[in-house]
Amino acid sequence: MRAVQIVDLTGPGSALAQVELPEPEPTHMLTPGSGVVIDVHAAGVSFPEVLQTRGEYQLKPPLPFVPGSEVAGVVRSAPDGSRLSEGDRVAAGCLLGAFAEVAVAPEFLTFPLSDELDYAQGSGLVLNYHTAYFSLKLRGRLVEGETVLVHGAAGGVGTAAIQVAKGLGARTIGVVSSDDKERVAREAGADDVVRSDGAWKDEAKELSGGGVDVVVDPVGGDRFTDSLRSLREEGRVVVIGFTGGSIPEVRVNRLLLNNTEVVGAGWGAFAMNKPQVNREIGAEVNRLVDEGFVRPIVGARFPLERAGEALALIDARGATGKIVLDIR
Ligand SMILES: NC(=O)c1ccc[n+]([C@@H]2O[C@H](COP(=O)([O-])OP(=O)(O)OC[C@H]3O[C@@H](n4cnc5c(N)ncnc54)[C@H](OP(=O)(O)O)[C@@H]3O)[C@@H](O)[C@H]2O)c1
Repeated sequence: MRAVQIVDLTGPGSALAQVELPEPEPTHMLTPGSGVVIDVHAAGVSFPEVLQTRGEYQLKPPLPFVPGSEVAGVVRSAPDGSRLSEGDRVAAGCLLGAFAEVAVAPEFLTFPLSDELDYAQGSGLVLNYHTAYFSLKLRGRLVEGETVLVHGAAGGVGTAAIQVAKGLGARTIGVVSSDDKERVAREAGADDVVRSDGAWKDEAKELSGGGVDVVVDPVGGDRFTDSLRSLREEGRVVVIGFTGGSIPEVRVNRLLLNNTEVVGAGWGAFAMNKPQVNREIGAEVNRLVDEGFVRPIVGARFPLERAGEALALIDARGATGKIVLDIR
């Protein structure tokens, strides 16, 4: 099969090579001896793959390896007793191995793909939408009627967080850095959009009538203190990532004085050894697809052999929505 591997740790421009590899056996590292074999139609590209080309992500397989954490495609084979069958359209999280014509995913991370979504959209459904649901509902304890501020609102996690928050009955305010990204955040369904280089904290407080309930933060960096200041009493900042480059530090007296919280949300670390949690989140995400709230936004598509360009686009802060590799 055709595949793309990370062969060294020199960064997105040079670390990838296109190769021919034997097709994988029906076994996955999370479920040894068992796995769903998928003919990949589209592979999702994400920030972690950029980090992996530099050896900077927590998952560091020995070189060379096929990166790519999620796919959409057609089931070629499923384990005995599985709720999936050959020929089913699916979206799946595979952790590694997505940048290839055939990939293997654990059964508990493989979900029926609605006819409402094409394969490119399906390849953006697991990592970002499961993270968004986990972060907002399970960690952020979002309830209907609350207001959510989303940083990086035109990005993969950001657009997903806007749509999931809307589906959970929240009002959403997106924070973005450009006109183009403002358009994408609005397309995702943000009720309001504010600029990261403007007075976004004050605008968010005004728009929410005194402070937001939840901040979804995949960016980190120097805006973190203003995220805390944008909360109302009992508000929560949910920490998801650090695309801004630096890991913020919190002066915890702020939490005490304002009765607020900082909550960590590491979806992978939490969910990977809990099959039932994944099934429940998958069912909720598919419910939000059926209800019309979840429609992944595909910002750019590349053929497999141009995977390096896809990673470079994310690295240069140029990505919007989901970046996808078309494999078939
Ligand atoms: N915790 C979890 O379970 C989990 C799960 C999935 C992903 N993540 C993490 O979440 C983060 C976001 O992932 P993503 O797929 O949404 O990425 P993405 O699509 O590239 O979006 C990230 C956003 O960050 C903003 N940003 C601010 N400063 C930036 C900088 N210096 N360089 C690049 N972007 C910058 C950009 O928005 P503006 O230009 O509008 O500021 C960009 O749209 C990553 O760190 C990823 O590893 C965490």
